[in-house]
Amino acid sequence: MLRGLDQLPRLLTGRGISWERFGPRLAESAICIDRSQGALCYLLARAIGARTIVEFGTSFGISTIWLAMAVRANGGGRVIGTELVSSKAARARENLRAAGLDDLVEIREGDATESLRDLDESMDFFLNDGFPPAMLAVARLVCPRMRKGAILVSDNVGAFWADHDDDLAWLRGPESGFETSLIALNEGTEISVKS
Ligand SMILES: C[S@@+](CC[C@H](N)C(=O)[O-])C[C@H]1O[C@@H](n2cnc3c(N)ncnc32)[C@H](O)[C@@H]1O
Repeated sequence: MLRGLDQLPRLLTGRGISWERFGPRLAESAICIDRSQGALCYLLARAIGARTIVEFGTSFGISTIWLAMAVRANGGGRVIGTELVSSKAARARENLRAAGLDDLVEIREGDATESLRDLDESMDFFLNDGFPPAMLAVARLVCPRMRKGAILVSDNVGAFWADHDDDLAWLRGPESGFETSLIALNEGTEISVKS
């Protein structure tokens, strides 16, 4: 049987994935943003001159490469990636080295709800692309560190909409301090600007 086939009905409806069971099955998968999302992140980061970028969920570093390319084109800076799975973090480092971008990137291994606690600088751009159960907690850590006009891109909110109730409600509510909208990229990507 195909791995993950038992999750298919839930995947089709976006409803209530069991991330504790499903997440570990993705330990060998890149599951990256698509080309359009990568290009959008790059262009948005270029448009605002982003030099400090943080990412929840680095996986093999594909999105990190788009983000680091933007930082390099903006004159240099730092991308902080985060990844729970050590072998994925190692693979991301290899890919970033091969792309000649490793000097711009620090990948923090472990749970991002811990590894991002000590973010000490003002962030220009945040890609929220980890698994849904931790997206709100990570957003609550990172968003207060984002400057006015900073951009937040939240991936997978359309594909797994039922797993994003809490983070989307927070983001779209008055407490978050963002102007935000769902755009039709890769089944739905939320783009937000810090007010
Ligand atoms: C959708 S993938 C990220 C894809 C990547 N942004 C890209 O586009 O190339 C999500 C990643 O988040 C990682 N992850 C899930 N929960 C995490 C956590 N609590 N802390 C750090 N990483 C986590 C997973 O291991 C997985 O590799």
